[in-house]
Amino acid sequence: MNSSPSGTPVKVAVTGAAGQIGYSLLFRLASGALLGPDRPIELRLLEITPALKALEGVVMELEDCAFPTLAGVQIGDDAEQIFDGVNLALLVGARPRGPGMERADLLEANGAIFTAQGKALNKVAADDVRIGVTGNPANTNALIAMTNAPDIPQERFTALTRLDHNRAISQLAAKTGAAVSDIKKMTIWGNHSATQYPDIFHAEIAGRNAAEVVDDQSWIENDFIPTVAKRGAAIIEARGSSSAASAASATIDAARDWLTGTPEGDWVSMAVASDGSYGIPEGVIYSYPVTTRDGRWEIVQGLEVDDFSRGKMDATAAELVEERDAVKELGLI
Ligand code: NAD
Ligand code: LMR
Repeated sequence: MNSSPSGTPVKVAVTGAAGQIGYSLLFRLASGALLGPDRPIELRLLEITPALKALEGVVMELEDCAFPTLAGVQIGDDAEQIFDGVNLALLVGARPRGPGMERADLLEANGAIFTAQGKALNKVAADDVRIGVTGNPANTNALIAMTNAPDIPQERFTALTRLDHNRAISQLAAKTGAAVSDIKKMTIWGNHSATQYPDIFHAEIAGRNAAEVVDDQSWIENDFIPTVAKRGAAIIEARGSSSAASAASATIDAARDWLTGTPEGDWVSMAVASDGSYGIPEGVIYSYPVTTRDGRWEIVQGLEVDDFSRGKMDATAAELVEERDAVKELGLI
């Protein structure tokens, strides 16, 4: 017989909770997708004031699901109240690019959000807080939040490239006829943007090197990499709005693996503060292959990087350095 969830609830904050991703994410979190059916979850939902009414409706729906794992829900527009004592903060809410908005405008608008949220987390989050940034531009938003939270260890901030990782696995499975569960050690390097580098040269399909199984450099260069890197744009084009359920699913995958550990013989992609590994400049949030254990991540070291990969890893690093310099110039970090 299943026992009821018991113990102290894990306090999980979600920002932008009334948005598209929130509408999928909250129900998965509440139903136990993060830590299983035995661990109660308390949701802390942050929105801007005009979206609070819509969020109240979402909370009614959460109540109507009668999830055994959902120990409570609090909503509000004050980051310090919502983040108070949280163990996990999923920063999803961000300002989308509007008509005529330049990249710098987007960085500035989001800079204001992530500066304030970084400061609030610094002040009131639990000592063990972990922060995952989904809202775009995710890597640089994470950098802004991290820089504005000097008392929280830097390794507690990550940005989401798990969706790209999952997309890459799915494309490779479709190409080779393998089951997604047979594909291990996929890597996304760099930025969650079109410059990202999905790398199958270290990936394995049922224990065999994936690039050798594919044996088609032209497919890797001209099909696989651009398909994965531009998948977000393809979904926007088809749906009229950006990926939501898959982004929510990846947000949960990333947080779950961070908290509970990666399986033996595999790794995941996570954007983390670069420590200079693989010649990537320090001071940017760069996606690496990582293993996790006991709530800590470690960059996989010692992978061979050929000239093709080097060029792609450096190009996406250069974009992140540009973004960092732009937000530095705006005084956000
Ligand atoms: P959405 O516009 O439907 O929802 C965003 C929500 O954020 C809105 O409800 C808005 O009111 C709220 N918000 C804005 N400013 C806020 C603030 N200061 N505090 C709290 N809430 C605030 O967007 P969505 O489809 O849910 O996407 C959210 C973000 O995730 C976007 O930036 C999108 O580009 C990004 N995204 C990232 C990935 C990824 O893989 N990293 C994938 C898909 C989408
Ligand atoms: C995605 O990868 O689906 C999104 O980040 C795309 C976007 O620009 O919102």
